[in-house]
Amino acid sequence: MENLSGNPVESHKGDVLPASASAYLDPHYWDDRFSHEEHYEWFKDYSHFRHLILDHINPASSVLELGCGNSQLCEGLYGDGITELTCIDLSPVAVEKMKQRLISKGYKDIQVLEADMLDLPFANGSFDVVIEKGTMDVLFVDSGDPWNPRVETVDRVMSMLRQIHRVLKTHGTFISITFGQPHFRRPFFSNSEFTWSTEWRTFGDGFHYFFYILKKGHRMSESAECTERIDMPSISPYHDELDSEDYIFRTNIDDA
Ligand SMILES: C[S@@+](CC[C@H](N)C(=O)[O-])C[C@H]1O[C@@H](n2cnc3c(N)ncnc32)[C@H](O)[C@@H]1O
Repeated sequence: MENLSGNPVESHKGDVLPASASAYLDPHYWDDRFSHEEHYEWFKDYSHFRHLILDHINPASSVLELGCGNSQLCEGLYGDGITELTCIDLSPVAVEKMKQRLISKGYKDIQVLEADMLDLPFANGSFDVVIEKGTMDVLFVDSGDPWNPRVETVDRVMSMLRQIHRVLKTHGTFISITFGQPHFRRPFFSNSEFTWSTEWRTFGDGFHYFFYILKKGHRMSESAECTERIDMPSISPYHDELDSEDYIFRTNIDDA
């Protein structure tokens, strides 16, 4: 269980969480964390959104996972026959430990690379699917007012999205799994420079997580996009409270 309140917190694993939100933007924080943490699943594990994944990824898909950390998402995908997988993370510690873990479990053909999602080392049009879980959220940790994020936040998020759009094939799909609500994510996803359509689903009990599906080359007119919402998220008083907060640090994240 992780309760990110802005103060150091001793977790059940004895890990010390960062003293400030911006530490999540510091690569050293992740190296240090991954050096003593073997597995942690941000939000929910694969079993909770597998049904959504299988609607959008098939065994022939080439998939890039951004910010894999020590998650078992790639193992879940592999188990469902999606074997053309590349995982990246900025943390060399995460990458090395992920490589060792996958080799020890026999997943020898999953590629794991140290790379920055803001500057992806892949050619244009390399992947059918790009997926991230909780990784884009890191870019929002010091965003300030979520209704009007700081220029630095906007620049970082747009850089990430440009890279994703670039490495996707012509009709590729970007999947973003996050607690970021549509009114905070859509202004980015719907930027006019992108050709993707934007849809989302929700999953989870009580607290709802969002599963965004962005299909490159499928953008409709602005008016059509506005009606494309396919599943109204459940807004609870907790969500309302989060609206005015730097919410990655106010959220209890289930340990799956
Ligand atoms: C909140 S964790 C999510 C980990 C994993 N996706 C999961 O679901 O459990 C964020 C991850 O993103 C990585 N990360 C942060 N900034 C990154 C960047 N610019 N490029 C690639 N990975 C990054 C961190 O090292 C960390 O592993």
